[in-house]
Amino acid sequence: MSSTSSSRFDLGDHVQDQDLSEEYLTSSSRDYSAGSSPLTTPALSDNEFEFDVPSEDALLEQSSTTQAPADGSEKYIMVIGGLGYIGSHTTLELLREGHNVIVVDNLSNSYKTVLKNVRMLAAHHCKVNNVPMPRLRFFRIDYRSKAMHVLLERYSKPVMTVDATSGRQVVSYQSQIAGVIHFAAYKSVVESIQQPLRYYRNNVCGLVNLLQELERFNIRNFIFSSSATVYGSKANAGLPLKEEDLVHHQVKTQNEAGETTIVEPTIEGLSCPYARTKYFGEAILADVAEADADWRIVALRYFNPVGCDPSGVLGESPRGEPTNLFPVLTQVLKGDRPELSVFGSDWPTRDGTAIRDFIHVLDVARGHIAALNWNTKKGNGFSTFNLGSGTGTTVLEAVRSLEQAAGREIPLALVDRRPGDVGSCVASTDRAAKELGWTTRESITKCAADLWNYVSKVSLRS
Ligand SMILES: NC(=O)c1ccc[n+]([C@@H]2O[C@H](COP(=O)([O-])OP(=O)(O)OC[C@H]3O[C@@H](n4cnc5c(N)ncnc54)[C@H](O)[C@@H]3O)[C@@H](O)[C@H]2O)c1
Repeated sequence: MSSTSSSRFDLGDHVQDQDLSEEYLTSSSRDYSAGSSPLTTPALSDNEFEFDVPSEDALLEQSSTTQAPADGSEKYIMVIGGLGYIGSHTTLELLREGHNVIVVDNLSNSYKTVLKNVRMLAAHHCKVNNVPMPRLRFFRIDYRSKAMHVLLERYSKPVMTVDATSGRQVVSYQSQIAGVIHFAAYKSVVESIQQPLRYYRNNVCGLVNLLQELERFNIRNFIFSSSATVYGSKANAGLPLKEEDLVHHQVKTQNEAGETTIVEPTIEGLSCPYARTKYFGEAILADVAEADADWRIVALRYFNPVGCDPSGVLGESPRGEPTNLFPVLTQVLKGDRPELSVFGSDWPTRDGTAIRDFIHVLDVARGHIAALNWNTKKGNGFSTFNLGSGTGTTVLEAVRSLEQAAGREIPLALVDRRPGDVGSCVASTDRAAKELGWTTRESITKCAADLWNYVSKVSLRS
């Protein structure tokens, strides 16, 4: 059934989006053990979409008809946590760049409407540029569940190889998944202090199991969402943070005078369980890459992603209470909060408020594509890159940029510093520019304008 032969509005979830809950697996276990994955029924069709917005629907239908039928040889990028804030923007950029994408998300901090919006924007891009719409598949699963194994198996082909030492025939896999971008994690600092085990289970145990599964299916091209938080109190030095400020194994590097120096792995002042989950994640990945030279792993250390797609259709819409500066600011603007608490107004900065490195989320998304391309062609072991703008903006300057975009004042309360906060945290962007050929394109003004555009449109829609 293709979209051209079916009613526009009756394309059900089962067509492309499969809820692979544990329950589903159990009920299908007979088929699975007999060798046919439960994922094989119902059959997926790449030419069917689910829409509910009439004006967008016509656009999507036209674009979807340009797709070639799947024959099992096409390659995909798997995006885990691909409906979240950064994941959805990255999925969109991947589609715009022509990659087929498999999104895995359990919707613990996102909504399925995000999928429709990503599809719609990607289809619009393809139509305007007269290029075929890549495939986009969505699986609503917890990446830690057994369903993940089933999913990976479904996109893999078993091949017989001869083990070099024993001479025996063994089954190995060739996967259609050319690379994995792993966003799925819990991310609230405050919640991580209250529920550390929940954070370690998702962000650390989940990662370990995932890596084992990927190894089993010979998928060793991996991009990991890390954070500037791994630098801990090293940010207090007040200098732009360089990747070699945190290494996991001893490395030789050259200083500005061209002299070789040896950097030892040391950590300082990781202030909360969330920060430690990111640090442990990186350390595990570095060890995995050290042990097996076939792995190519990049950890991207994001500074402060803000803004959203300029269409105003895609943004940041978490299920829980937001804690990052810009989502909180928008709550104040919408009247959902009375004021913004500014933590610390006595930092040694130009206006006394803390300095952060804000980066447009689309620049972050493009950074993933640059990293993926680099890793696929030149990746070697474990590598780290900062994704920041390299420009420091004070909290008050960020507030002013949003006030300007919204055309109204934001009420502020200047309160004490929070324990563990640093006065300044700005990225050195040299490594990403030199190796990945990636630099930011957007300014803080653009971040604020795009965010306000999204917020105003959401208010109009709701
Ligand atoms: N947003 C930031 O400011 C920031 C900064 C630095 C690092 N990061 C990291 O980047 C990544 C993405 O951040 P974000 O802001 O997009 O977060 P987000 O919460 O918006 O997105 C995460 C997505 O992963 C999904 N998810 C979580 N656990 C899952 C699981 N077990 N199985 C399947 N899906 C699961 C959620 O439903 C959500 O859609 C996270 O790893 C976060 O720690 C974010």
